[in-house]
Amino acid sequence: MGKERTVHRCSECGSVAPRWSGRCTGCGGWNTLVEELDLPLGSRRRAGPAAAAVRLGAVDGGGWQPRSTGITELDRVLGGGLVPGSVSLLGGEPGIGKSTLLLQLLTRVAATGSPCLLVAAEESAQQVRSRAERLGPLPPSLWVVAETDLAGIEGAIDDVGPELVVVDSIQAVADPRFESAPGSVAQVRECAASFVRRAKASGTTTVLVGHVTKEGALAGPRVLEHVVDTVLSFEGDRHHALRLLRAVKHRFGATGELGVFEMGDSGLTEVADPSGLLLGDRRPGLPGSVVVPAMEGRRPILVEVQALVVDTNAQFPRRSPHGLEGGRLALLIGVLENRAGISFAKREVFASAVGGVRLNEPAVDLGVALALASAASGRALPDDLVACGEVGLGGELRQVSHTGRRLAEAARLGFRAALVPASAPDGPEGMRLVRATTLRAALDATRTRLLPVGSE
Ligand code: TYD
Ligand code: MG
Repeated sequence: MGKERTVHRCSECGSVAPRWSGRCTGCGGWNTLVEELDLPLGSRRRAGPAAAAVRLGAVDGGGWQPRSTGITELDRVLGGGLVPGSVSLLGGEPGIGKSTLLLQLLTRVAATGSPCLLVAAEESAQQVRSRAERLGPLPPSLWVVAETDLAGIEGAIDDVGPELVVVDSIQAVADPRFESAPGSVAQVRECAASFVRRAKASGTTTVLVGHVTKEGALAGPRVLEHVVDTVLSFEGDRHHALRLLRAVKHRFGATGELGVFEMGDSGLTEVADPSGLLLGDRRPGLPGSVVVPAMEGRRPILVEVQALVVDTNAQFPRRSPHGLEGGRLALLIGVLENRAGISFAKREVFASAVGGVRLNEPAVDLGVALALASAASGRALPDDLVACGEVGLGGELRQVSHTGRRLAEAARLGFRAALVPASAPDGPEGMRLVRATTLRAALDATRTRLLPVGSE
């Protein structure tokens, strides 16, 4: 590839500068200059003939058929599998298991005889091989190229002619025509666009790996999310085995499905029953423990919430959430103090969602509040009880979405009672619903109606 000139254009006002600088001389914006190829005006026009307009009814609608990946949990998230010629982006924090998942995907697809290519831009071919050996037999159709240069990678794709290509990671690939470092907006945008063009032209199914920052955003370029068809997010707590896969954007289907995996010694295994896995180590009769039926996308998952309350003389007692939102925890402590008369003034509070799961929905409020109250009083709640409902600032309980599905999952796992807002719909057969209008009423119910064993 010849050395073409690049310029730096302001992403805010469009001013062009020959050299990068921290501040745009046109509009004064900071960090807005992005490198791009300095193409003469005429060359921006497409050379080929323009596409002709056709009647929408005459368009062949059957082109986008997903093909199963052989990994059920991945197929579930994708709505059947990967669409040939599509481009997906798999985002996730470093170390979460992106490379492992995609190597397993490549192995599965290559095992069917389809040529597959892994572009290892961050690791050597030897490193890839030693990881692959932990995962199972190596099919002959699986190819690897350790390369970071865009032209080199494109050459390898032409040589192998793969049906599936995985680029690990897009942030490590660079087009040498640009001065910007790999991972910069200009590099990522240009390299991703080039993979997208190639995928659409050749029908090669393409998966790009993208690292995300601590805040959960895709590092650097939001632009990536717009050029790809599907954005998958791989999440979990690195200290736990559970990994959750979801679609953040999906051009070929819905985004509500969740895939669940467990990281083990020989890679990721699919978890068909995440609730069962999460509740596996639960200790019955523990004060401060409550099981909540949470929704992860469209899938109900039972998660144990634990709270611990410790006396302290500290002026500002600690409120320490794990897997729960700090603001929501503070709110629930405030409501418990103000509306239910439980004081946390000289008490440190720890509250955690067990198993490395993150619970962000208000539907877990009631469960968290009950766990806090149970921890504060030292009295355990019944083992076969789940709780779901949103807690308002007035201490009132509000109905949440998908109550039926949540309670059905709880019933499946043997829970026989549920504490719910008064307006909640009926539960599944064999499950006793205890309805309450306020948090205080819910706490009273746990004391009087549900907990006859030696309390107070
Ligand atoms: P990796 O797929 O390299 O993560 P990413 O590509 O998202 O950065 O996986 C990293 C972690 O997974 C690493 O800490 C080792 C662990 N691991 C296992 O526990 N079992 C395995 O079989 C493999 C391959 C990795
Ligand atoms: Mg990796």
